[in-house]
Amino acid sequence: MAGEIDPDVDPVVMDATRVGRVLANLVSNALRHTPGGGVVTISARRNTAGVEVTVRDSGEGIPTEDLPHIFDQFYRGEKSRSRQTGGAGLGLAIARGIVQAHGGTIRAESAPGAGTRVIFTLPSVESGCEQAMI
Ligand SMILES: Nc1ncnc2c1ncn2[C@@H]1O[C@H](COP(=O)(O)OP(=O)(O)OP(=O)(O)O)[C@@H](O)[C@H]1O
Ligand SMILES: [Mg+2]
Repeated sequence: MAGEIDPDVDPVVMDATRVGRVLANLVSNALRHTPGGGVVTISARRNTAGVEVTVRDSGEGIPTEDLPHIFDQFYRGEKSRSRQTGGAGLGLAIARGIVQAHGGTIRAESAPGAGTRVIFTLPSVESGCEQAMI
């Protein structure tokens, strides 16, 4: 597993425990769906809204028909079900809830056989994230 953090990322206001849970969910998904010899990378960089965090893997990827649904509660890909591995299909739904509560966004990019990237943003202090925090 590798990590890359740009030195100029802006400070963000966040609930570190909950954002840590988001990262743990994304990394455990990546590890579960990446065969031995693959690579899982976490990176953080500055963008116009704040900080953009990406967890990418070189694993099996997500079927095109599954991709629009993976953030839905209880949604699990067919492969996960048939292999009887993994959890309840809640990790990404919880991750989305936490990111949105911070005023951020989360999305996934993937293609079968070509790995997966899950990208979430957290607004920087200057971009007014205090208003988004409840
Ligand atoms: N990195 C990934 N590579 C391939 N498929 C993925 C990846 N991340 C998520 N998925 C697919 O998206 C589905 C939903 O993911 P989610 O994290 O919500 O649930 P889960 O991992 O199955 O269970 P839980 O997170 O509740 O333990 C997974 O079942 C899997 O099919
Ligand atoms: Mg999960």
